[in-house]
Amino acid sequence: MKTYTMKLECEGEMDCPKEVVMWNYYDHEHLVGTHFTYYKKARVLAERDDWALVYRSGNMPIFGIPISGMGLQFMEGNVMKTFHKDSIGFLLEQETHFFDLPNDRSKVKVIYKINVPKFMKLFEPLFQNMFKSWFKNVWAEDAPMRLRRWKVYKLGFKDFKGIDYINKKLSKPAKISYPKYEFTPPIPVFSDIKQPEGMERPFASSVQLGYND
Ligand SMILES: [Fe+2]
Repeated sequence: MKTYTMKLECEGEMDCPKEVVMWNYYDHEHLVGTHFTYYKKARVLAERDDWALVYRSGNMPIFGIPISGMGLQFMEGNVMKTFHKDSIGFLLEQETHFFDLPNDRSKVKVIYKINVPKFMKLFEPLFQNMFKSWFKNVWAEDAPMRLRRWKVYKLGFKDFKGIDYINKKLSKPAKISYPKYEFTPPIPVFSDIKQPEGMERPFASSVQLGYND
């Protein structure tokens, strides 16, 4: 059967280094927190260095149809490659390109591709609208999390340890030096996301969990 590749490119800029954005893409626990309107459950099936095989279930971005799927993600230099097979049967191939911008800012370009039978070419505008809206919505949901992580990192925050001067109940030092933010997957977790039952959102309501300034 002749096939056709539906394609879409989306771009966004973020006021934090690209390594913080990479961290966000590997923080699988936030799927059912920050993006709870899309994802109901997530489970990390296997993970090693920057390779992660993740099961997700939830609702389709536009129609709200229940859907589940498995995605493999890994890094090739500054590009994250993702292969995501959904329960309908489509294989979504995603390339996420990370770029440095001046003043600790970054740019991300995402390329979405799905190979379909040629007669489905007429659905490309639908595919593009659906993924454009998806990109825009999850980008907006992720932004506070990324900016907050960068903000607290500059104050000396360390995972599961917090901020030293606050832990010691001291006043804020006049100058806090910090090393370059390093992206070192896999991301340590405390939840059951790697267990057979996976991770579900613990609350039925509320919009954001803990990301208000
Ligand atoms: Fe996200």
